[in-house]
Amino acid sequence: MSRPVLVTGGAGYVGSHTAKALAQAGYTPITLDNLGRGFAHAVKWGPLERGDVLDRACLDAVIARWKPAAVLHFAAFSYVGESVTAPGLYYRNNVVGSLTLLEAMRDHGIDKLVFSSTCATYGLPVRLPLTEDHPQVPINPYGASKLMVERLLADFGAAHGLRSAALRYFNAAGADPDGEIGENHDPETHLIPLAIGAALGTQPKLKIFGTDYATADGTCIRDYIHVTDLAAAHVAALRHLEAGGQSLACNLGTGSGLSVRAILDEVERVAGRPVPAEEGPRRPGDPPELVADPALARRLLGWTPAISDIESVISTAYRWAARQHNRSGS
Ligand code: UFG
Repeated sequence: MSRPVLVTGGAGYVGSHTAKALAQAGYTPITLDNLGRGFAHAVKWGPLERGDVLDRACLDAVIARWKPAAVLHFAAFSYVGESVTAPGLYYRNNVVGSLTLLEAMRDHGIDKLVFSSTCATYGLPVRLPLTEDHPQVPINPYGASKLMVERLLADFGAAHGLRSAALRYFNAAGADPDGEIGENHDPETHLIPLAIGAALGTQPKLKIFGTDYATADGTCIRDYIHVTDLAAAHVAALRHLEAGGQSLACNLGTGSGLSVRAILDEVERVAGRPVPAEEGPRRPGDPPELVADPALARRLLGWTPAISDIESVISTAYRWAARQHNRSGS
């Protein structure tokens, strides 16, 4: 088997796209996923081990079986709203799960980890674009849980020689350009799939969360990064660690933001039909604007987004959603 690497959460959205990129780069992604929120059908580029990162005996068995040289850790819960109402779920799954994984890696002598972190670790921006040295003051348990893991990585690095890459995603979006995998969340809470669903008639009318922000058109601005570009960054981070590179934490975004209204306009253009929408109040906890400074990832990993222009993001997401819709026969 060529270069096995363990991919926790490899049946999820970013994990499955990264598994594809890993296979294309000559690795064998060994997916470990409890299939609680991921999908077996998204695991196409290597074996699927069904199990949980909280289960130490399972981790030991999977690591002993496949002998991965590195781990890419995606397994986590990622709904901001849910994290506020059920924080225990987030601290257990995201923090205790990561700790269990790190201890298993330490005991099996695996010293390289690429970690899914998030711009939610920054909290409310005090300056934009966000650079990696911006204060990290998360405003919800999801962001706090990811920040705690960043701290674990630093401490395991100092004590046990772990080398890690914490990749702070901005808004992951889009779908595999070949149409093999895409975004399937249940429930769906993200703007782009909801807007596309509204256009296709598979989701209710889209509610625009706030039109009174101090932005050009009054709606929130986000930095949407194509999931295939995120996947490429993970491969670059893995190579960096394999080449003996130091631990790092860096943003993965494009450096430019788009408003909710700009996204809806592009969905309408790509779909060729209107997005039924209504204006609603602000969603609690939404910062008005989140935009990355992606310079560090470029410098340290040689990574730049290749297909994160809004047309590619929306058209790949649209093709995926339309295909799912046609398949379901509705
Ligand atoms: N939005 C709407 N209507 C909707 C859904 C979203 O107007 O029905 C708006 C939101 O208010 C926000 C933008 O669309 O301004 C994007 O919202 P998403 O829910 O798609 O994404 P978020 O920016 O809330 O969340 C993303 C990641 C999280 C991460 C968070 C950091 O998905 O994992 O950024 O703030 F934690």
